[in-house]
This record gives sequence, structure tokens and C-alpha cells, in this order.
Amino acid sequence: MTTTVPPTDVGDYRRAMARFATGVTIVTTLAGEHHHAMTANALCSVSLEPLLMLVSVERDARFHDAVLESQVWGVSVLPAEARSTADWFATRGRPLHGQLDRVPHSIAPVTGVAWLDGALSNFECRTTDVHPAGDHSIVVGEVASVHVPDHLGKALIYYRGRYEALT
Ligand SMILES: Cc1cc2nc3c(=O)[nH]c(=O)nc-3n(C[C@H](O)[C@H](O)[C@H](O)COP(=O)(O)O)c2cc1C
Repeated sequence: MTTTVPPTDVGDYRRAMARFATGVTIVTTLAGEHHHAMTANALCSVSLEPLLMLVSVERDARFHDAVLESQVWGVSVLPAEARSTADWFATRGRPLHGQLDRVPHSIAPVTGVAWLDGALSNFECRTTDVHPAGDHSIVVGEVASVHVPDHLGKALIYYRGRYEALT
């Protein structure tokens, strides 16, 4: 007797993954001379020796070609009060140039990518590998430097398609 497993529905998959609570980050890169940024939660620590992390980037996102070209990227882990920042950098079609103008930020020391002020932590990476993965690319980077501010507020969490705050 053979059993057939029906194909998994993409809506069920999305609802199931939405129960996997994550932090929220802004990833940044340089598009030519311009800073480019995007909200991302598909971020993962990969290795300690060497220090590697990954971000999964949709191939259709404008960030995709920019980060593949520049091969450097930053990560800022958002605090709970940064919901509007997360919304802004998830808005499709926002102006590419000047998108960081109203967001206080500094320049990371090694690669020159942008780090958002007030983040719970910041990282900067140089890309070591890019793995095609369906409609995304998995971008792996070696960590060039980290910034761990003394202050520690509540974290911004993404859970079931909504933002939450976690102490
Ligand atoms: C909470 C949250 C997390 C997201 N995580 C990712 C992610 O990990 N990778 C990704 O490619 N897009 C992610 N997105 C979607 C992008 O932020 C969005 O598609 C992008 O800003 C579109 O920018 P563009 O118009 O410049 O292409 C996320 C959106 C939200 C709201």
C-alpha cells in the first residue's frame, strides 16, 4: 500500500514559521556610494572559529544585488522602541537614496557600512559565501567587528506577524 502525502500548503508553512519568534534586525550595505538598508529576521549565527553569520536575502529585494556586489554588510539588532524603523526598512519601493537620512546611524570601523544608533548590538561582515536557495540567497559573512553597547533595553520581537517587546 502506498500513502500519498499532499503537498504542503505555503499558507500553512507561513503560519507555522510565524510561531518561530525571532529578533528583528536592520541589515545594511553599500550600493556604490549610497547606504542601503533592509529589515531582516532570517539571520543566524553560524560558526565561532572563524566567526561567521548568515542572512537569507530575497532575490527580488533591491538589497540582494547591492550586497552581492559590495560583499560587505552590517547588522543592527533592534530594540523594542524601533518598530517604526523596522516598518520603514520593510517598505517596498522606499526611496533608495537617502533612506537612512532620518535614522541616526554611525559608520562601522572596518567596512564602512552603516550601524543604527540605539541598537542592542551591531555587527559588520565581509561576505565569504553566497548559496542560492530558492527565491532567496543565503549570504554568509565573516564578522569583522562587533559593537556591544553598555545600555540594554527591551528587544523587538517578531511573532505571528506582529511586533512584541521582550525584556
Ligand atoms: C519582520 C520582517 C522581517 C523580514 N526579514 C527578511 C529577511 O530576512 N530577508 C529578506 O529578504 N526580506 C525580509 N523582509 C522583507 C524585506 O524587509 C522587504 O522585502 C524589503 O525591505 C524590500 O525592499 P526593496 O523594496 O528595497 O526590495 C522582512 C520584513 C519584515 C517586516
